[in-house]
Amino acid sequence: MKLWGGRFEKNTDSLVEDFHSSISFDQRLYKQDIQGSIAHARMLGSIGILTSKETKTIIRALQELLREIQVGQVKFEIGAEDIHLNIEKLLTGKIGDLGKKLHTARSRNDQVALDLRLFLREEIDVTKDLLLKLIRTLLKLSEEHLETWMPGYTHLQKAQPITLAHHFMAYVQMFLRDLGRLRDTRKRLNLSPLGSGAMAGTTFPLQREEVAQELGFDGITQNSLDGVSDRDFALEFLAAVSIIMMHLSRLCEELILWSSSEFQFIVMDDGYSTGSSIMPQKKNPDVAELVRGKTGRVYGDLIALLTVMKGLPLAYNKDMQEDKERVFDAVDTVQKSLLVVEPMLCTMKVRSEIMALGAKGGFTNATDLADYLAKKGVPFRDAHEIVGRIVLYCSKRNLGLEDLPLEKYQELAPVFEADLFEDLTIEKCVRSRQVIGGPAPEAVMKAIEFSRKELNQLGW
Ligand code: ARG
Repeated sequence: MKLWGGRFEKNTDSLVEDFHSSISFDQRLYKQDIQGSIAHARMLGSIGILTSKETKTIIRALQELLREIQVGQVKFEIGAEDIHLNIEKLLTGKIGDLGKKLHTARSRNDQVALDLRLFLREEIDVTKDLLLKLIRTLLKLSEEHLETWMPGYTHLQKAQPITLAHHFMAYVQMFLRDLGRLRDTRKRLNLSPLGSGAMAGTTFPLQREEVAQELGFDGITQNSLDGVSDRDFALEFLAAVSIIMMHLSRLCEELILWSSSEFQFIVMDDGYSTGSSIMPQKKNPDVAELVRGKTGRVYGDLIALLTVMKGLPLAYNKDMQEDKERVFDAVDTVQKSLLVVEPMLCTMKVRSEIMALGAKGGFTNATDLADYLAKKGVPFRDAHEIVGRIVLYCSKRNLGLEDLPLEKYQELAPVFEADLFEDLTIEKCVRSRQVIGGPAPEAVMKAIEFSRKELNQLGW
């Protein structure tokens, strides 16, 4: 007999039993479910719906059940549908009819909303810690590579020389924004929906705020319909982690490119590469590729839940049971990805000489030559035109800007003087970009210090 079986004359079809049961995946919420039930029971006790003896018995039994589940002593039943009814049934098995009183003034609809919020709150904190570790590693690597010259790209064509530190610091900015998004999500998520009941609240004089406080919430939701039908907090989480994955994927894409024999900027550690079953020479950056691939999976989780929610009339609908697997999958995928990328970065070898070589060629110093003219009073647009012609001249003869003799320069524009060559070295190009946010080693060092301060003031 179902816990809700009173008005039914027939049993659930066995096909349906399997189809609608969620226990195979929502058992992951057992801890949060019991935590919520203990707080609910305590409040029922304090408003006199349960006697203090009943309250104690229920709480003790729930705590015992928690321990039993943790050590793997409990077998859940598909017939009991979901984690909420499984726990209620197990509780009743322990303490008899008293267990049936626990569900007074509560519905599975507010219960599941509560459990998912509690679960995500914890997982946001875990994700935050993983993100922090990655950011700290990037900051450390940046400090080590302040003078590792490398080419910067636009359109994947060489653009201007920068440093590896500057490149890494771009990712630090992205991951800092990700931290901010997680923090914002947590803030809006951290309200208790308990007391919303099935959708219209309850006739019992619940102390919603007290329960919320006991469960570590900052407050309570303000509308019972919304309390049970809102999954914005899960969507915000999925959106935030989708962006984290997008950032990881871009980083991994670069590492894949850089480890190719065309670039040779880095060598991935053997521990983070795999081989081929047929080509003996191969060493592939599979870990980075997988992170890039798993990004699609997390986007899928976000789109799936957005789609589940888009046509639902208020309030709860069973469609919403589909939220959990998407949330669990995204949590696992983003956390595993963050976990593996950090040591992959720490263990890879940077080939500074090849990077520096790459910074040369491709006329990466052409902007600096135009700037040289502009500083001598030539309007920048004209300077651009002059340097463009010089680049054309040199590229036809396979020369770099630094190879052209002064006389030739002066033929093309008389304002050129011998000091122009100083401005053409890669080192000078980078060191002169002192502007805040620029690649000069001092500027990057300031950015590192600024970011470290931001991390220390995070106040999570
Ligand atoms: N297993 C359900 C879910 O995950 C719990 C809520 C069920 N509520 C209901 N009225 N059927 O959404």
